[in-house]
Amino acid sequence: MTVLLLAGTGEAKRIAWGLTDTGINVIASLAGATRSPEPLPVETRIGGFGGEDGFRAFLETEDISAVLDATHPFAEQITNRTAEVCSALNLPYAQLVRPPWRAEICDQWIAIDDPQDAAAHIPSKAVVFLATGRQTLAEYANLEGRRVLCRLIDPPTAPFPFEGGEFVIGRPPFSPRSEAKLFQALGVTHLVVKNAGGEGGRAKLEAARALKLPVLMLNRPEMPVGTQLSNVPEALAWVTSLGARQ
Ligand SMILES: NC(=O)c1ccc[n+]([C@@H]2O[C@H](COP(=O)([O-])OP(=O)(O)OC[C@H]3O[C@@H](n4cnc5c(N)ncnc54)[C@H](OP(=O)(O)O)[C@@H]3O)[C@@H](O)[C@H]2O)c1
Repeated sequence: MTVLLLAGTGEAKRIAWGLTDTGINVIASLAGATRSPEPLPVETRIGGFGGEDGFRAFLETEDISAVLDATHPFAEQITNRTAEVCSALNLPYAQLVRPPWRAEICDQWIAIDDPQDAAAHIPSKAVVFLATGRQTLAEYANLEGRRVLCRLIDPPTAPFPFEGGEFVIGRPPFSPRSEAKLFQALGVTHLVVKNAGGEGGRAKLEAARALKLPVLMLNRPEMPVGTQLSNVPEALAWVTSLGARQ
């Protein structure tokens, strides 16, 4: 059997490592968003499939028997499409959904549903640390007027899409201490964060708590109804149980 692992997260890496030496053939897929991704220990393809038709063709050509979606909780396009196509083809599909972060005592979070809602909570003199990535930057254009700092892993290939914005380059992992130092050095007064959950991004929230900085927390998009796994061991168990049934 061949499992397609939709990757792009730390969990996907751990799943790929966990499935080596199991006898299960795994093809990992990365969108190609990061320029030099850490290599995975399984066969890996990089780049979009070319829409739904390309995705269906890939499933057929590679004789995929199941799809494990370990993409980011905000990668809604790939997740919704994969769930729909797998359901139509009667192909086993499961999504790894990390539990969202929950506010703790001393956190100053304001939940928002839409990037455009952030501006209403951020005064004009603020210095905003936008931890939401490059792809959706334009959705924050109504923050114009504030100093907006957007962190990227790779150097930018295009200018900041609105006035007052700057890129900050940094490759994870980050620690609460390094995040706090960075926020202080940059004079950050507010953060905007996607509620991604997981360990990787938690350091900035701990730093914000320590520095008493408000965090505009973007709620997750809705995800398809279906098999949801909440951690790597559950994902590994799901794949190996399929292998046992072959
Ligand atoms: N969204 C975030 O905040 C975020 C944060 C960290 C990491 N990531 C990772 O970055 C990738 C892109 O995220 P996104 O939000 O831009 O996705 P998206 O909006 O859901 O998907 C956009 C398109 O990118 C391609 N794609 C996405 N994930 C892919 C994968 N694993 N393998 C092959 N093609 C993929 C597909 O292109 P085709 O239609 O051509 O197949 C898809 O239609 C995801 O794999 C995600 O795990 C996203």
